[in-house]
Amino acid sequence: MKSKNLQKKRIAIFTGGGDCPGLNMVIKTVSQYAMFHYGWEVIGVKNALNGILGDTTIITKNSELIELKPDFPFDSFVRQGGTFLGAYRKMRTKAYENVKTDEELVAVMLPKFKKNIKELNIDGIIATGGDGTMFMVNYLCEKAKIPFVGIPKTIDNDTPGTEISIGFSSAVDACISAMDNIYWTAKSHHRAICVEVMGRNTGHLAMHSGLASCADVILVPEIPYKIANIAKHLKNIMKEEERDYFIIVVAEGAGAENGKNLPKNYNSVAEYIANELKKYSIEIRADVLGYLQRGGQANGYDRMLAAELGTMAVDLMANGESAVIAGMKDGKPTKIPLKNVCKKETRGLDLKSPIVKTAKSLGIYIGELKK
Ligand code: F6P
Repeated sequence: MKSKNLQKKRIAIFTGGGDCPGLNMVIKTVSQYAMFHYGWEVIGVKNALNGILGDTTIITKNSELIELKPDFPFDSFVRQGGTFLGAYRKMRTKAYENVKTDEELVAVMLPKFKKNIKELNIDGIIATGGDGTMFMVNYLCEKAKIPFVGIPKTIDNDTPGTEISIGFSSAVDACISAMDNIYWTAKSHHRAICVEVMGRNTGHLAMHSGLASCADVILVPEIPYKIANIAKHLKNIMKEEERDYFIIVVAEGAGAENGKNLPKNYNSVAEYIANELKKYSIEIRADVLGYLQRGGQANGYDRMLAAELGTMAVDLMANGESAVIAGMKDGKPTKIPLKNVCKKETRGLDLKSPIVKTAKSLGIYIGELKK
């Protein structure tokens, strides 16, 4: 949808979904570029859609909206992790408690959204998020007849339509740094350590961080694996390299062997794999990296990506675009229609990609990949 070009520009920005490195740089770039380049007003909305719906009472009585003025100390926030506008996955008030799907949720939100947008004189929304946030905000904006431009972010890197999302690169760095430490414990204690990384239902984070950390085994949801073949692989290394320490990287969504669901008695896939490998007399521990992958400072790449996509998002809105995201295609910031983002399936690891080919050809066990 192409919306009418805005004359009076007062835009709102918020960060939807989970936090990730780079969000503060997005907020800075969008706000400063909108203010300095276009002379617009910018409102920072706290706690995702909760802020714009004015549902403020449960956690804090502080205002959920900040007028982001040119003298706002954006730069100090860029050096911090998380998002200074706050993130919130769920809606806070009871009105949304029994709502099951995103479709039902937006229908319940709509009247209040329309009312508040009007009262706050908001002419357009720029928000970061994954496919869920994009779907919801776009629906609300379409019904309220204001433009929406999205900016993709997630450490999982699974947003359809864009080849990379903000936060992924820093999360890969965080995993590498953790695994570089874990390596020394594995080596000192002559054991395998199975490290579980995030990624929801995809293996981007596991494959990239595993390859860069010189892991011996990388397990991802996109490729089924066999415990016996992991054990065989480790025993081969023991024999051929006379090495008795190993790093196994597993994506949280990898499930049990042969593509089966994880047995109910396990809280983590790393614990399951460690237990199964003990049956082959392998000395092994499990380690779940958890949120240390997500909340930290953004690396250089993510700051640059956030700046480039933030600038493009503002330009898109200035050009009267709506229902689009500023994403990356062929290494360049690119306008991507939202219909390519809000697909039912997430963007999984491409099994023909150079990274998968490299991992395989380096002799890493990456599961039972069909030729
Ligand atoms: O989508 C990012 C992510 O960190 C996933 O990798 C993970 O599965 C999920 O969020 C965890 O969500 P929560 O913040 O609700 O624990």
